[in-house]
Amino acid sequence: MKGLHEVLQPAGAQAQHIASLWWLTVAICAVVFVAILIGLFYALRRAPRADASTPPDMASMDRPESGTRRTVVTAVTLSILGLLVLLAGSVVTDRALATLPLANAVHIEVVGHQWWWQVNYDDPEPSRIFSTANEMHIPVGRPVVVSLEAGDVIHSFWVPSLHGKKDLIPGHTNTIELRADKAGTYRGQCAEFCGLQHAFMAFTVVAEDDESFRKWADAQRQPAAEPSEAKAKRGHDLFLSGTCMMCHAIQGTTASARMAPDLTHIASRPTLGAGTVPNDRASLAAWIRDPGKLKPGVQMPAHHVPDDEIDALVAYLETLK
Ligand code: CUA
Repeated sequence: MKGLHEVLQPAGAQAQHIASLWWLTVAICAVVFVAILIGLFYALRRAPRADASTPPDMASMDRPESGTRRTVVTAVTLSILGLLVLLAGSVVTDRALATLPLANAVHIEVVGHQWWWQVNYDDPEPSRIFSTANEMHIPVGRPVVVSLEAGDVIHSFWVPSLHGKKDLIPGHTNTIELRADKAGTYRGQCAEFCGLQHAFMAFTVVAEDDESFRKWADAQRQPAAEPSEAKAKRGHDLFLSGTCMMCHAIQGTTASARMAPDLTHIASRPTLGAGTVPNDRASLAAWIRDPGKLKPGVQMPAHHVPDDEIDALVAYLETLK
């Protein structure tokens, strides 16, 4: 799945705070490491060489050690200071993460499933609510409040270029607040082991200017268009008379199940199976025929139907832009 997936290239306020804390930690640890190496080489150079026959040097017992004491006290003080700076750095970062201004925020609900992401765009007006999967669009420069829920087991929401990780816990709603300051496509990944296909539980976040975001959201709110071409029409009828509609929804048709990704605009999404394969004709056909071959363990069953029926279904799904 395409998109920037990089903690050290922050594209938003929250990721910037985390990256700054990381660089502070690296700088302090690097200074400590170099100081310890200098001390080690100094000690190795000045130590007298002895062998088995050398008598023990008891004279050091009576020697005053004010120099050594001073060195130890200085080293302990500097270590404490370094740790205090790190402590202060993490408190400041934590406060900064918790106090992102949330005026005019976009609210999005994300539900983690084995192994895909349901993304619901809430709205006070019920007709404006819509749902998509494994893809999230957000406006640049505006805060986004994502509420996180889990449908089955614990998952973890992680878009490294935008923020740290936050768990999705069954029966408990968490929230994560983020803001993208640079337009771009960012890759997200489930960051908590959640079963066989945990590694293939990816998603994309597209951060774009306000107008593009609004256009995308308006297009997503549209019900699916009726197909005009004969093959796609046949696919439409097969979809609604077969088992597809028992799990999937396509707005504007009678399919309204919520077990699996909403397919109203599936053709506009970049991948299938939460980042498993690119969303093209061949993958779509292979996915419908036997998704377990592409993503072993997936909940969707194989469909042993004639090739022309698969063809018709693909033709229909490809119209759902
Ligand atoms: Cu979901 Cu790992």
